[in-house]
Amino acid sequence: MNKTVLITGASSGIGLHFSHKFAESGHDVILVARSEEKLRSLAGELESQYGVKAIVVLSDLSKPEASKRLYDEVTTQGLQVDLLINNAGFGLFGEFEQTDVSKELDMIQVNITALTELSKYFGKDMVRRKQGKILNVASTAAFQPGPLMAVYYATKAYVLSFSEALANEWEPHGVKVMALCPGATQTGFSNVAELESSKLFQSGVMSVEEVVEAGYSDMMTKNKTVIIPGFKNRVLTKTIRFIPRKMVTNIVRKVQERI
Ligand SMILES: NC(=O)c1ccc[n+]([C@@H]2O[C@H](COP(=O)([O-])OP(=O)(O)OC[C@H]3O[C@@H](n4cnc5c(N)ncnc54)[C@H](OP(=O)(O)O)[C@@H]3O)[C@@H](O)[C@H]2O)c1
Repeated sequence: MNKTVLITGASSGIGLHFSHKFAESGHDVILVARSEEKLRSLAGELESQYGVKAIVVLSDLSKPEASKRLYDEVTTQGLQVDLLINNAGFGLFGEFEQTDVSKELDMIQVNITALTELSKYFGKDMVRRKQGKILNVASTAAFQPGPLMAVYYATKAYVLSFSEALANEWEPHGVKVMALCPGATQTGFSNVAELESSKLFQSGVMSVEEVVEAGYSDMMTKNKTVIIPGFKNRVLTKTIRFIPRKMVTNIVRKVQERI
């Protein structure tokens, strides 16, 4: 029987490519996001291309009740989630006094709260079965503060810290928890976050295929807790530990500014 992977944010970018990658390697997939048309057409494509089962669950993870409802819907259908990819997330660019607080609260709900709840509900079942893997999509933003995207960077610092702690707790139970930390990647993310003209996104982004290849391979074959795709990103995240935090924060601000 095929293993089943649940992927949040499967309708575009990193989640969409993970869906292809897992289906191609013989996994049944549960595709979660808000965009119904995109998910239904993706599910049809994956089923016909790879002969796997693809189930669509529509969910707006910014709604407080959504994660529990998603878990209930999946378990009511008698589905077992062997692998969970907590990928849905978004950012927002701007000076904190000017950004829309409702967008920031939604961001905290999607990037932090939903990810935590889904890890809890599906993770507890994995612990009971003594088997399973959870990949939480953080970011290289997790390693330092991010002026002009203060809330986004802080959400990703949470994801990294939470995932590392959970990896330690659940290793003896046979459940692997990992944080995937991509740097700037060519997806719809920069559009949603209004970041396209920032220096960061103008200077060398990775392709989504490279990020997913690295994430998939490390998740399935290596014993890593923190996965950082790309040599440059690995060097940067290690180097900044030795630079005073205030200086790093100033550098990040310069990189974040629009051209
Ligand atoms: N691209 C980058 O540079 C980059 C770098 C580091 C980390 N990341 C992280 O990678 C993850 C995926 O982002 P991406 O780059 O692939 O961006 P993307 O192309 O914009 O995809 C974001 C995905 O999240 C889903 N999503 C957003 N809000 C949601 C909500 N309220 N409920 C349910 N699903 C929601 C979207 O689906 P719907 O709109 O259909 O709901 C979409 O499928 C995010 O966690 C992001 O923070 C991205």
